[in-house]
Amino acid sequence: FAFTPANREWAEAQMTKYPEGRQASAIIALLWRAQEQEGWLTRPAIEHVADMLGLAYIRALEVATFYFMFQLQPVGKTAHIQICGTTSCMICGAEDLVAVCREKIAPRPHEVSADGQLSWEEVECLGACSNAPMAQIGKDYYEDLTAARLGEILDELRQGAVPVPGPQNGRFASEPLGGAT
Ligand code: FES
Repeated sequence: FAFTPANREWAEAQMTKYPEGRQASAIIALLWRAQEQEGWLTRPAIEHVADMLGLAYIRALEVATFYFMFQLQPVGKTAHIQICGTTSCMICGAEDLVAVCREKIAPRPHEVSADGQLSWEEVECLGACSNAPMAQIGKDYYEDLTAARLGEILDELRQGAVPVPGPQNGRFASEPLGGAT
């Protein structure tokens, strides 16, 4: 693994944002860019980032394994679905969303679907508890999900569409209590 010239230039620019001797502070940004380039974080990608920052591989791996935004195994080439399974989402139906993923993607988390397009996992609270249950797909949140709506979203992704993110039932957090008038 090596950053493309454009990504290397971008990574070096990130490193200049920190005081001399503190370039390792750019690690999350660099790991994220490596993941965007490869689709997931391979060991060579993590080693490449560690080398750029003057870190031991294990120090970079510690960061990569701490955050579930980093994928340490292959993901679907179209999308990786992260279902929140923490309390609010669990109470509001996260298990039904997981069941849809098992049926329409793969039986177990982190498996890639037979067509190579999708993968899924259950994650901890994503901070959108008031719109539970929800999922993160790529950089977007899909909230107020139902099992039926998640199934449609997965179908749309497979067809190359980009499902509209945000609350899936028309409810927006900015509405006054009692709903829109
Ligand atoms: Fe699911 Fe917080 S519990 S977003």
